[in-house]
Amino acid sequence: MRVYYYTRDGVVMAVDNVDLSMKQGETIGLVGESGSGKSTLGQAILRLVPPPGRIIGGKIIFDGLNLMKLSEEEMRRIRGKRISMVFQDPMTSLNPLMRIGDHIVETIMAHDNLTRKEAEEKAMKILEQVGIRSERFMDYPHQFSGGMRQRVGIALALALNPDLVIADEPTSSLDVIVQFQILDLMKKLKDLYGMGMILITHDISIVPGIADKVALMYAGQLVEFADVKSFFNEPLHPYGKALLESIPNIQYSDQKLKYIPGNPPDLINPPKGCRFSPRCPYATERCREEEPPTIMVGRRRLVKCFQY
Ligand SMILES: Nc1ncnc2c1ncn2[C@@H]1O[C@H](COP(=O)(O)OP(=O)(O)OP(=O)(O)O)[C@@H](O)[C@H]1O
Ligand SMILES: [Mg+2]
Repeated sequence: MRVYYYTRDGVVMAVDNVDLSMKQGETIGLVGESGSGKSTLGQAILRLVPPPGRIIGGKIIFDGLNLMKLSEEEMRRIRGKRISMVFQDPMTSLNPLMRIGDHIVETIMAHDNLTRKEAEEKAMKILEQVGIRSERFMDYPHQFSGGMRQRVGIALALALNPDLVIADEPTSSLDVIVQFQILDLMKKLKDLYGMGMILITHDISIVPGIADKVALMYAGQLVEFADVKSFFNEPLHPYGKALLESIPNIQYSDQKLKYIPGNPPDLINPPKGCRFSPRCPYATERCREEEPPTIMVGRRRLVKCFQY
């Protein structure tokens, strides 16, 4: 997949040859620092990249279907029904003039062949599952707290029992306790319905509790793809190592927090060779000249680094 933004300053190579796959019912934690292309990749899967962004190449194979080849009309039938999205800020995806219950009812009625009464019953059930009592059905979005709106966003994404949910920072605007509740809820519902999930987050510490695999992005590229256990035991890519070292550990009160020196690169003029090389403690001359290939390590891990 390749997605570029055509801006006045130049072409931003936001997603540059990212290739990954997942199984039905699996959860992938898509992580990487701000601006690494996570949201762009998530939007590209649903062909919802906003202008001036354009998908300039690649395929999205979903259940044997290349989504890139579908008409806009066919794509609309996939969105919500088979692949849905939880947005970072639900306030921007909820209509302020529409009651919470009606949001869900209309979503259901747009896809499922149900009467209004049946759709209302289904909507109530979904809202209850995300912990919103039926009395709140007639309320408007502004009458809800941030955490409750996030629950509504999740209810909307789950309303049609999709096969895949793309959740873009679904909890990053919430305090840690509500964040934990929501992630726990998503995990339960996901298991209940057997859905797959791509959880986009810049907070790598929430990944082990919920994901099966980690996809690590750096500067528009996938630099490591591994199962959660292997990654957290021993990250292979130097960027992954640095990232894990920057998570504070409660057992060592006198530890110094590590951070990754330098800044993420400009995606209009990315560094030559490996994009992480200017910040990498292991970088050699070759890393600064040549782009490393993506290598398979063991049977299922991928890493984009010359060390392997
Ligand atoms: N509408 C846009 N116009 C121009 N450039 C954009 C646009 N949206 C994103 N970009 C650029 O594309 C790159 C990837 O952005 P993206 O939002 O996908 O990153 P992200 O990993 O989701 O970051 P964050 O963690 O901050 O949400 C960044 O360099 C960003 O500046
Ligand atoms: Mg984002």
